[in-house]
Amino acid sequence: MRRILITGGAGFIGSHVVRLFVNKYPQHDIYNLDKLTYAGNLANLRDVENLPNYHFLKADIVDGEHIMELFKKYQFDSVIHLAAESHVDRSIANPMEFIMTNIVGTVNLLNAARHYWQNDFEGKRFYHISTDEVYGSLGDTGMFTETTPYDPHSPYSASKASSDHLVRAYHDTFNLPVVISNCSNNYGPNQFPEKLIPLFINNIRHKKPLPVYGKGENVRDWLYVVDHARAIDVIFHKGHDGETYNIGGHNEWKNIDLIKLMCAVMDEKLGNAAGTSESLITYVKDRAGHDLRYAIDSSKLQRELGWVPSLQFEEGIRLTVDWYLNNQDWLDEVTSGTYQQYYDRMYKNR
Ligand code: NAD
Ligand code: DAU
Repeated sequence: MRRILITGGAGFIGSHVVRLFVNKYPQHDIYNLDKLTYAGNLANLRDVENLPNYHFLKADIVDGEHIMELFKKYQFDSVIHLAAESHVDRSIANPMEFIMTNIVGTVNLLNAARHYWQNDFEGKRFYHISTDEVYGSLGDTGMFTETTPYDPHSPYSASKASSDHLVRAYHDTFNLPVVISNCSNNYGPNQFPEKLIPLFINNIRHKKPLPVYGKGENVRDWLYVVDHARAIDVIFHKGHDGETYNIGGHNEWKNIDLIKLMCAVMDEKLGNAAGTSESLITYVKDRAGHDLRYAIDSSKLQRELGWVPSLQFEEGIRLTVDWYLNNQDWLDEVTSGTYQQYYDRMYKNR
């Protein structure tokens, strides 16, 4: 039996990881620690919240003393650290929260693990979840591997790069048993609708403009969120201390092509005439420092630990559209109130 701390479990990816672990490992206690920022939503976990091995702890990882108290009280033997400020556009508008949560918060967790594990690292694991954005931007060819030098461009990616370096430093300096993974863009159910795919599904639903940054020529490599959660399970159990694993679906899409595909799927599902949703496309001012292309080489993970993505994108995007259309109450709830203010502010000058 283990006592696993999952941070950020009320967020998009975290909720899929918590669900997988709570259901798959009834013998383990799973502690979901989350501050419940705008991106954290306990409704994401309604199906598991009453299971006996699931526990919720409301806490801010920036509060180091509180994190120490929780380690003392619950004696976690493993950490899967997802809590973060995660939206690039918000990091451009307000970098400081990213520095505090993504850097200071990560160090608070590292310090607590180091303190309470007391150099007895048998059966212990600190797993840090990171992003492919730390590697920077690619030209027309090539892929990020685990040895690609870090070259972050946004306050978000710079804060994640910094946290990755600190996690490695705690391994190299204090022998903390850490493992890191860097994943490409995720999509699927429960993603907060300020990221591209759920934002555009929501806007199409309301017949609102679809704000495409620049010329829509940036390329992202998309992975279904459940496949990311499966990879996290594999790396948590089989990954080697001190190692990094890239996670991705070999699934590159130019934004504008992905948006047109999404528009076509939405028109079909909503019974609209072909072209209805595409007519909402509006080209707007580009994101500052916008990385051109991400593509991730996950062959190390596939070769060494045997993980492969389970879904093809065309199937994944249909499942995703179905989920949002079948869960319009969820969308309405998270897009009311303060979300509307964010949206008006963010897009007013574009
Ligand atoms: P998200 O924004 O949906 O969720 C983040 C969660 O962290 C929320 O529940 C939020 O309440 C919580 N949180 C934020 N600040 C906190 C704090 N100070 N203390 C405690 N909890 C706090 O993010 P996501 O998209 O699910 O990403 C999860 C992790 O995966 C992040 O570390 C992110 O960098 C990484 N990642 C995301 C993607 C992606 O495509 N979304 C891809 C690769 C890696
Ligand atoms: O690559 C992994 C990263 O993917 C994660 O680390 C981040 O947490 C996650 O948010 C995501 O970052 P992106 O910036 O790539 O995701 P986003 O959904 O914000 O944007 C995807 C692409 O779509 C990007 O090229 C910008 C563009 N875009 C986005 C929005 C919100 C638009 O053209 N219009 C928009 O309104």
